[in-house]
Amino acid sequence: MLIRSSSKIKSSEITSHSVYQARRDFMRDMGGLALAGLAPAACSSTEAEGQSKKTQEKRFAHLERSPFSTDETPTPHSKITHYNNFYELGTGKSDPAKYAHRLRTQPWSVTIDGAVEKPGTYQLEDILKPHTLEERIYRLRCVETWSMVVPWVGFSLGDLLKRFQPTSKAKFVAFETLHDPEQMPGQRSLFSLQWPYAEGLRMDEALHPLTLLAVGLYGEVLPSQNGAPIRLVVPWKYGFKSIKSLVRITLLEEQPPTTWHLMAPDEYGFYANVNPDVSHPRWSQAKERRLGGSFFENLIKQETLPFNGYAEQVAHLYQGMDLHQHF
Ligand code: MTE
Repeated sequence: MLIRSSSKIKSSEITSHSVYQARRDFMRDMGGLALAGLAPAACSSTEAEGQSKKTQEKRFAHLERSPFSTDETPTPHSKITHYNNFYELGTGKSDPAKYAHRLRTQPWSVTIDGAVEKPGTYQLEDILKPHTLEERIYRLRCVETWSMVVPWVGFSLGDLLKRFQPTSKAKFVAFETLHDPEQMPGQRSLFSLQWPYAEGLRMDEALHPLTLLAVGLYGEVLPSQNGAPIRLVVPWKYGFKSIKSLVRITLLEEQPPTTWHLMAPDEYGFYANVNPDVSHPRWSQAKERRLGGSFFENLIKQETLPFNGYAEQVAHLYQGMDLHQHF
């Protein structure tokens, strides 16, 4: 996505065995990550053993494969983690991986406020405790016309929201990324987006079971360049809606302002549902390049599907809306 310069301008409180196990696994996984980050050399005598132990410590155990998963082949791990959009860590596709080490993801807290009965700021571990993590393999379609297939680890946002008891005023949900220019060099740039990166969903979109909070990738703790420690994934919308490194979730009566829509309202809509029939003002959205294949495979573009292939599950949410106007 181009930044135009100014001149151009679930939740259950019942502790079943699987919930208990996921909780234990998560605590161990997060703790393991910290250990690996703080004292990797102390883990083993050789570098190779150390690496293998580090990998094990980052892995989630006993992940169920969600029925929402696509059976398409996942994009290679190296591509998913080295071809990123995370403007807080730079505008180049390789910048996020390069600067990811700057992001401190522990401890991490998320504020949940606005139209909820139980507002507050909660440690990530407490937010995650009651949820069973599962693997969800989703297509990701960027507005820039590239796409990937990503094996996320996470749970439905709706399950989390219900725990905090939305009031009748909750019509929309606003999301915010961490704002800390010391950790995120991209936030120091003058010709840049407005920070913190902000996104939003209508309440029914947020409660839809496909809408995911991801904490992992390829069975491991989420790499920082992909939005650690917790990010949103909305698979039927262009990738920019899937906001990374979340620190605040606010339930609102009104539609919230969102980063890319503020930047270029005629180019990036609030809804941003993947739609091959509605071109971006500067390029067509009819086709996409699926990344991660061979050089020749990457040259061939494939048809983009309405709602990124999730029409059966979500098209009803937009009945009666003119999707050309609400792009
Ligand atoms: N979230 C934040 N905070 N900052 C960003 O720059 N980029 C968005 C989205 N979430 C972005 C963000 C865009 S444009 C895309 S396509 C996806 O993240 C890319 O996610 P990935 O890097 O994990 O593939």
